[in-house]
Amino acid sequence: MSSAKPTPRLTISEIRALKGERPICCLTAYDYPGALVCARAGIELILVGDSLGNVVQGRPDTLGVTLEQMVYHTGLVARALDEAALRGELERLPLLVADMPFLTFHTTPERAVENAGRLLAEGGAQTVKIESRPGIAEYVERLTRVGVPVMGHLGLTPQAVHQLGGFRVQGRDADAAREMIEQARRLEDAGAFAIVLELIPAELAAEISAAVGVPTIGIGAGAAVDGQILVFHDLLGFPGALKPRHVKRYLDADSLMTEAVAEYAAEVRRGDFPGPKHGFQ
Ligand code: KIV
Repeated sequence: MSSAKPTPRLTISEIRALKGERPICCLTAYDYPGALVCARAGIELILVGDSLGNVVQGRPDTLGVTLEQMVYHTGLVARALDEAALRGELERLPLLVADMPFLTFHTTPERAVENAGRLLAEGGAQTVKIESRPGIAEYVERLTRVGVPVMGHLGLTPQAVHQLGGFRVQGRDADAAREMIEQARRLEDAGAFAIVLELIPAELAAEISAAVGVPTIGIGAGAAVDGQILVFHDLLGFPGALKPRHVKRYLDADSLMTEAVAEYAAEVRRGDFPGPKHGFQ
């Protein structure tokens, strides 16, 4: 029997304890290689976002993403983390959060529990994220009561794109800002362990972060939050990824990958690949 100690996973308490200590690093991932990159780079919280509808499936929005697809992609990410841990590659395993897709959590609390349960039991996530609308606190409470940790999501909630009139900054007027602060408090009271703040003015994000005791994780919400998250494909400049103002590109993967594939195609056409080193006797 191996005496190697299992790699400890970051817990929701440890993530919570980082509030006020230092910014929490979060990123999305949707598959095995993406998860390995995130974990090896020291990302603390990986979100299998329903943004996979945009960046993996090429859809204009996330409404067509199904629970089956989320379970599948969460499983790919979970497997990458488990295998990296078994190989002893990581000091800590990131916390794995799975998004609950459109209409899988706010029809009835029972359905929310069943669907979240699948993301944990079949997908291997430790927690779920739900896009929060007024009235969602009841569902968050129900999920946390049965042992499913929940991350809230306020501001631009892409599943409500048609109700919001497009992908635009939220909470600009005083009433909307006040309501968002109230919703953040309600989410915390209902048991949410963290809250994503997407596309809201930096000042409002700072106010919400000060108003709640749980970490706020910003995307397009300025620096005065408790952590940051971006979409993997946006950060790395994947083909088809958008470049909204709040994204910083750390790589131009589109150019690098296209150049590499074009070089392969040219070598095949010239007869240079496969060379003597790439075959078998
Ligand atoms: O689906 C997603 O990737 C998200 C993040 C942008 C927070 O919700």
